[in-house]
Amino acid sequence: MLIIDGKKVSLDLINELKASVESFKAVTGKVPGLTVIIVGQDQASQAYVRNKAKTCKEIGMISTLIEMPAETTQELLLHTIHELNNDPAVHGILVQQPLPEHIDELTVTLAINPSKDVDGFHPENLGLLVMGDLDKCFVSPTPYGILELLDRYKIETQGKHCVVVGRSNIVGKPMANLMLQKLDAANCTVTICHSATKNIPFFTRQADILIAAVGHAGFITADMVKPGAVVIDVGINYIDDPAKKSGCRIVGDVDFDGVSAIASAITPVPGGVGPMTIAMLMKNTLLSFQRFNGL
Ligand code: GUN
Repeated sequence: MLIIDGKKVSLDLINELKASVESFKAVTGKVPGLTVIIVGQDQASQAYVRNKAKTCKEIGMISTLIEMPAETTQELLLHTIHELNNDPAVHGILVQQPLPEHIDELTVTLAINPSKDVDGFHPENLGLLVMGDLDKCFVSPTPYGILELLDRYKIETQGKHCVVVGRSNIVGKPMANLMLQKLDAANCTVTICHSATKNIPFFTRQADILIAAVGHAGFITADMVKPGAVVIDVGINYIDDPAKKSGCRIVGDVDFDGVSAIASAITPVPGGVGPMTIAMLMKNTLLSFQRFNGL
């Protein structure tokens, strides 16, 4: 049984990106810039954002954080995005979600210049992904990171049955569309299961590649998995654990102990998909820089 080490792959990727940034800097005198906007004080969001800034700096990119109070108006947020759209030193704009309730996420997403939308959330980028024009769009970092893991571990995907559990706009939908594309690490027959699916185990047991993005701790149990399947766990769930200093620990959507006994390969949580998301966000920022500079 293979444990897919996303931590290691993300470190390899970060080193590769660092080398690319250095060589582009030598040629152009410029470096990629990522600006992250965070509205309010959500603790998980603050931790994600700190991690993004740290990785950006490690790679040699310019990381800018704009912190806005929770009561910020939508108008002011849109104005800030507009200024970043017009700033040639900014190649990637990311507005951390969730946003406070009085701000409409779709309106904010639509305000970001699609060519700086390194999250791949803008309908133009999602539409190009559905059409299979990956050279012209940004693919959302989490699904893109999973594709990268399948690719680097040379997991056989051609013609396989990939079952995605979860239909979110950030993971489930782009993931299913990606696995459908005629790509080396994809080209699958794809099924999407969601909260209204009748008899989810009937579908998951048919999966050669099972991708869990539900947001429920331990949702996928061993009886739901075909022996020999490749299992990708996208879940990040906090559960109480009095043995930990923080009082909680992170687990995935997959019951790791049970499922790892029958799967052929599995991503752990933490250390699987999570670290890849940040690395692929950096890859998208570099890609944006290359496109803006004709490199
Ligand atoms: N909140 C949790 N994950 C993400 C992400 O990938 N992008 C943004 N913008 N917000 C998030």
